[in-house]
Amino acid sequence: MPASRIKSPALLVAESGADRAGHGLKRTMGLFHLVCFGVGAIVGTGIFVGLSDSVAQAGPAVVVSFVLAAITCVLTAFAFAELGGAIPVSGSSYSFAYAGLGETTAFLVGWCLLLEYGVSVSAVAVGWSQYVNELLDSLLGVRIPAALSAGPGEGGAVNLPAVLVIAMAAVLLVRGVRESARATAAMAVLKLAVLVAFCAIGFTAFRAGHLTPFSPAGLGGIGAGTTAAFFSYIGFDAITTAGEEARNPRRDVPVAILVCIGLITLLYCAVALAAIGAIGGDEVGGRPAALSYVVNEVTGSAIGGGVVAFGAVVAIASVVLAVMYGQTRILLSMSRDGLVPPVFEKVSPRTATPVAGTLIVAVVFALPAAFAPLDAVVDLCTIGTLATMAAVNVAVLALRRREPGLARTFRVPLSPVTPLLGVACCLYLMYETGPDTWLQFAVFLAAGLGVYLLYGRRASRLAAVTATDAAEPVRQAV
Ligand code: ALA
Repeated sequence: MPASRIKSPALLVAESGADRAGHGLKRTMGLFHLVCFGVGAIVGTGIFVGLSDSVAQAGPAVVVSFVLAAITCVLTAFAFAELGGAIPVSGSSYSFAYAGLGETTAFLVGWCLLLEYGVSVSAVAVGWSQYVNELLDSLLGVRIPAALSAGPGEGGAVNLPAVLVIAMAAVLLVRGVRESARATAAMAVLKLAVLVAFCAIGFTAFRAGHLTPFSPAGLGGIGAGTTAAFFSYIGFDAITTAGEEARNPRRDVPVAILVCIGLITLLYCAVALAAIGAIGGDEVGGRPAALSYVVNEVTGSAIGGGVVAFGAVVAIASVVLAVMYGQTRILLSMSRDGLVPPVFEKVSPRTATPVAGTLIVAVVFALPAAFAPLDAVVDLCTIGTLATMAAVNVAVLALRRREPGLARTFRVPLSPVTPLLGVACCLYLMYETGPDTWLQFAVFLAAGLGVYLLYGRRASRLAAVTATDAAEPVRQAV
């Protein structure tokens, strides 16, 4: 295969216009808003629904799993902070890989982002459906029949609520409704308040005996639980995409990422301890809409569980909206680079949004939401996200070698040890997803490579620029 094309940091920044005054985005976000933005993108299906899977694997030692998942994220957060400071553009891991590792890897990273964002839309939507049923039950005493609220792998035929939430998000995004900073902050506070209230209720029934045995499945269980828990942290990198709207991005973006991960880890551990301490790990493990169940059990009434379900429905819907927004914008960047078809970069003059791209994303990712079991979509999303995170750590090392003089506002401490540890943690968690998921991932990557070789490599705009030798900063990697 010919050498992969590299897009230099200078060209990336020049194209984004981020170095020009008045590049279109207003610098309005302070540290508080950035943290709220992070909480908005992170807290959703993972804790409200996925907790019961992590507990099924690790038992009460799920708190160790949460801490290990957080460490993996923090190691990679350093890499995001260094690259985000050096190349302040919105394309996130895809752009970093284009600068550090070349076009082929960048394409594959963009392709894996379809798992982090696109398949995550499906996964988050499937989780939403569990709490919709819980809410309907507590409000009206009715439930959507299993046939219409779960996919074939989970005892139903089609998951209609999951399709509905994706359709609603698509309509809002097509109309150009992006959460305002105030709405984002309100949503984040609501989510945190519901989870804090959950802890307060759960801890009233806490029994230390429920925490023993602490690690029923040993280290293997903790490892598997860490991979399951990792899903609940996905989205922290979204903070780097707000760099162009932050008042003081050099300081606030890395701080916001670390504050978010720290805050969320404490909260997740508290939620897990409250749930297990109240009713025991065996009761929590594998239970649908587990948090509502715990509250109903502790209070002896369906009202508290209904309130939790309401919080979950709102919280998870906001994650669907945020993640779907991210997916359409990543495809838009890739389309502008010529790596995916131009339909994704078409912006409607009427709504100023990528209408066709949004509808395609909605239809494509509604299919797994309708028919796939939650575990399968969560595992695929997890392995894809971990692969992009490993690539970002490698990109730090590659750019340090290739562009030693690049102005860096933040440097990963103890490099190369920290990025290499980041890669090792990601690879370990990928390994824990199991053979079925690797196989699906391998097929997915092979398909991506095929698309790149047959389409992206030829249509690449960087290739056209290189061919005419018009851009000085473009070079061929050797
Ligand atoms: N972290 C996101 C969630 O848990 C994907 O819903």
